[in-house]
Amino acid sequence: MTRSLMLGVVGSLLCILSRSAADGVPGSEAKRPNIVFIVADDLGWNDVSLHGSPQIPTPHIDAIAHSGVHLTNYHVQPVCTPTRSTFLSGRHVIHTGIYMPFAQGTALRLNLSYTLLPAYLKKLGYRTAAVGKWHLGQNVEKALPTGRGFDEYLGYWSGAEDYYTHDTHGGYDFQDGTECAIKYNNTYSTYIFAERAVNTILEADPEQPLFLYTAFQNVHWPLEAPAEYVARFSHIPNSERQYVAAMTSILDDAVGNITDALKRSRIADNTILIFTSDNGGPVHDENTESNNYPLRGGKNTLWNGGTQVVGMIAGKGIENPGTDCHGMMHASDWLPSLV
Ligand SMILES: *[C@@H]1O[C@H](CO)[C@@H](O)[C@H](O)[C@H]1NC(C)=O
Ligand SMILES: *[C@@H]1O[C@H](CO)[C@@H](O)[C@H](O)[C@H]1NC(C)=O
Ligand SMILES: *[C@@H]1O[C@H](CO)[C@@H](O)[C@H](O)[C@H]1NC(C)=O
Repeated sequence: MTRSLMLGVVGSLLCILSRSAADGVPGSEAKRPNIVFIVADDLGWNDVSLHGSPQIPTPHIDAIAHSGVHLTNYHVQPVCTPTRSTFLSGRHVIHTGIYMPFAQGTALRLNLSYTLLPAYLKKLGYRTAAVGKWHLGQNVEKALPTGRGFDEYLGYWSGAEDYYTHDTHGGYDFQDGTECAIKYNNTYSTYIFAERAVNTILEADPEQPLFLYTAFQNVHWPLEAPAEYVARFSHIPNSERQYVAAMTSILDDAVGNITDALKRSRIADNTILIFTSDNGGPVHDENTESNNYPLRGGKNTLWNGGTQVVGMIAGKGIENPGTDCHGMMHASDWLPSLV
């Protein structure tokens, strides 16, 4: 285990990954593991069947935990921008100074002096691609995904928008790289992000490691889902709850498409797969209806329902697949451990 890997790591990732995965092979970039990092937005602790939800079956998300390691004591920040800043900078919010989500149209951004995870991995020879929500600053080009180390990007820069029209406060926010991508108007974002992630994985070159950051819009408000998904939950009387279930279900199908693509890809045997929520689900809050039972509170609160979330890691180097890891881990552990 290299010394640099030990620096700054306070969590339990090192007890999960084997030496061979952690070390790579010196001088051989082709052997570095591919990394697929999936972020769900506002997913409630009890809104996956893995945690016992009798209401929302999530077989594909559960399967990642069952084939890998389920992080049962895993913590993040109670809202999105702070957690996402921490994922990509490796810094806790007491260092980034970002305690609140960035408002629409803000001039705030994650400090440009920080080197982010994609930039570190680029230096190690990785192809870096991002899909989905950004929400880490957008008022100068250097603050955009493509300015911060991602070679490729498809998604929206702000924190929330219409899933179909990609409209936020009267503006169309959907870009391929830095170019406005109008052709995606009226397509539900989850299909777009899953398809781009699947294609990126299927075309991945085993000779060049890939870092793919996929940040889905689901299950953040506005409550929108394709009719066939809403119909699956027509037995749920509460409309907000019905939509949360539908939006989680399509998220699970999108995750299933990604894990299926990984199995069919040329990088199947050499990929680390991570799944995490950015914060707990909002309960009786933000006009939506997640469920974090048995944790108290939800998004926007410092109770565990806001800060303890669904998390798991699978794939290359997992020493004890199918186990739970009860060691405490935090969002800030990913960057130093992976790098
Ligand atoms: C950005 O980080 C640098 C140090 O890396 C610090 O000097 C500066 O004050 C930070 N800027 C903001 C706005 O926090
Ligand atoms: C997207 O499509 C909707 C519905 O057809 C339309 O109202 C809207 O103007 C379109 N957005 C843009 C930016 O063209
Ligand atoms: C999953 O892939 C299938 C087959 O390509 C596609 O029809 C479906 O729309 C995809 N689902 C999602 C949620 O992306």
